[in-house]
Order: sequence, then structure tokens, then C-alpha cells
Amino acid sequence: MPRTKFIAGNWKMFTTAQTGRELAAAVVKGCAGWAGVRVAVCPPFTYLNVVGEALRGSPVALGAQNVYPANEGAFTGEVSPTMIKDVGCRYVIVGHSERRHGLGETDPFINSKVHAALNAGLDPILCVGETSDQRKAGRTEAVLDGQLVGGLQGLNGGQAQRLTIAYEPVWAIGTGVNATPEQAQDAHAFIRRRCADLLGPETAANLTIQYGGSVKSDNAASILAQPDVDGALVGGASLKADSFLAIVRAAVA
Ligand code: 13P
Repeated sequence: MPRTKFIAGNWKMFTTAQTGRELAAAVVKGCAGWAGVRVAVCPPFTYLNVVGEALRGSPVALGAQNVYPANEGAFTGEVSPTMIKDVGCRYVIVGHSERRHGLGETDPFINSKVHAALNAGLDPILCVGETSDQRKAGRTEAVLDGQLVGGLQGLNGGQAQRLTIAYEPVWAIGTGVNATPEQAQDAHAFIRRRCADLLGPETAANLTIQYGGSVKSDNAASILAQPDVDGALVGGASLKADSFLAIVRAAVA
């Protein structure tokens, strides 16, 4: 069975309650009647409730941008998987490069988040990707390998059916320099091969692998046309309904 394309908007630390509500409502309106594509939006924690209200009854799903790997406890400022589930999320992004590189998150910590999310009934979107220096040094596959082995530790094939992997080369995030369709395809094919070793061939064949990094309405179609690219994790272009919906449309085509 062909994999259904999955387009998710990572709103990062943008929007207000009002603009978030309006953006979500416009995405819902724009997606009405479309079949054959999965769509989600991931607002900041503070607006999950408000955006969840705007999505209610629609096929557009809600996701969070991060999670702490414990269900409750004395963890000031953190948000648990059960809280994220409770507020209506289906998805949670883990291991985003802005957290790996900006906030020092390690593969073991990210792995514990993957497990905590799955145990709470959330579907994790695990981000992996190399920096510009790592690519120039010819280490792209070694870096992806380390992030996959570390991030997927202890997962069985059954649990992994609810997993999405997002290939987000760090040099493409927020830079306007997207990976070429060939670069994306090469990395995605490598990720799928390694996931076949780690999770089993059937799970890998069904695995959704999104591309993220300067996806825009004018480059989405060529990237999404690659055989191992199953969707997109969109940053900047997800903050305007028109550009986000154009990317969703490119996934349906
Ligand atoms: P941009 O689309 O703004 O490059 O961000 C990509 C990203 O980090 C999505 O998680």
C-alpha cells in the first residue's frame, strides 16, 4: 500500500492566541474536502488549547513541539506526554535540531522522549539531520546513523508503526537553501535502509519519512515527488495559511 503523505507545520515560537486561532481556522477551511494527505499543526504549548478548539471536528491534527520524558513530577517548566495527550494532541516533535544544537539535547535524552511519547499514546516525529560541516566532511550518513541508533534504542517494530522520522538537514533550516530533491532522496533512502535493520523491513517500508528545511510552495512538489519522501515538516512557510496550503496541495497532486 502506498504511504500517505504527511504535512506538518512547526510553528516554533511564533503566533499569539489570536493569530494561532486564525491560522488554524484558515488551515481547516483550506483542507476541507481534501483526501489522501495527513495534515497537522504544532503550535507553541501555550496555544495548544486554543488551536485545538479551532481544529475540533476537522481532519487537521494537533501536535506539540517538545515533551519531557516523565508523566508528572517536580520538573519546573516542563510539559509531560500525558498533559500533551490530555490537551488533544496526536503528535509530538522530538529531537528538533534547534533543541539538539541550541539546548544540548542528546540522543539518549531524545530516545527517552520517544519512549515516553509512545507510552502515553502520542505519535512521535523524530527529527534527525546533519550540520553543514558534517555534510562537507562526508559524514552525513554517519551522523544520521548515530541519531537513528540512539533515538530508536529499545523500540520494537510494533511501537515504531506510530513513528514518523523527519530528515531536517540543519543547513537547510530557516536558511532558504533547501536540500535538492536528489540530496533529500539519498538521505531518505539511507534512513529507510537503516530503519529496516533497526526496526524490521516491514516497519521500514511503511515508515513515514518527512523532509524539513526551507520547504516552500515553489519547491515542495519536486521534493515530495521523490520515492522515499513521504511528506514535509514545514517551519516558516507554515505560518501563513496560503503557503502552507499550497504545500499540502503539492502533496495531494
Ligand atoms: P523552515 O521550514 O523554516 O526551514 O524550518 C524547518 C523546520 O525546522 C521544521 O521543523
